[in-house]
Amino acid sequence: MAVSASMKSALDGAIGHGSGIVTGMDETVTGAEAIVLIAMLVLGITILAYTIRTGVPPMPTSPGTRAVMLRLLPQQIDGVIYDLGSGWGGLALAIAKRYQHNQVVGIELSPIPWLFARARLAMWPRPNLTYRRADLLGERLYNAGAIVCYLMPRVMQKLAPKLDDELRPGTVVVAYSFAVNHWRPDTVAVEAESGPAPIYRYTVGSPGR
Ligand SMILES: C[S@@+](CC[C@H](N)C(=O)[O-])C[C@H]1O[C@@H](n2cnc3c(N)ncnc32)[C@H](O)[C@@H]1O
Repeated sequence: MAVSASMKSALDGAIGHGSGIVTGMDETVTGAEAIVLIAMLVLGITILAYTIRTGVPPMPTSPGTRAVMLRLLPQQIDGVIYDLGSGWGGLALAIAKRYQHNQVVGIELSPIPWLFARARLAMWPRPNLTYRRADLLGERLYNAGAIVCYLMPRVMQKLAPKLDDELRPGTVVVAYSFAVNHWRPDTVAVEAESGPAPIYRYTVGSPGR
């Protein structure tokens, strides 16, 4: 189809000369840059949408916090270790490295952090670690030997009755920053290494629990 000279000049103005897009600031963005910008926007919007849906941002625990959480877990654990809300997967990975004879399962609903964790695992496989994309409130935890989590008060409130119903006596729960409602912890660690937020440790079946 023939393109008139005026149409061609209008198109050139809209998409820039050759492969670029002219922005209002008289800067040209190349096609590759535009794709990167759009991809970043989609990633950001998806992360934000899931943060609003779950009420918890995918904020990872720091290496110091992970070290203290690991210290609060028992030497030997009988059963699966769950990271409820495993985010980008760093805490579950640190646990899987230390507990090589336990199955470690990270449960995460937000697709971008979950995909990141899965991609890293595909590159550096670890047979005792899996990341499952699911709602942690719908997961059955009867086979848990230990649970770690870093969530928010509203999710902890929803999680508490589930932990009450499903966890076996002796199961250890280590929760960063936010406590399990109505449970009495056997340890509350506040250490410089992990920052000002407390880390709660509970053992199912112990007094107050
Ligand atoms: C603060 S991050 C913690 C990440 C990781 N556990 C760590 O310590 O590095 C909490 C994660 O929980 C996830 N999350 C919150 N509610 C969830 C739900 N109902 N089901 C699955 N994941 C959930 C969020 O998407 C977020 O990535």
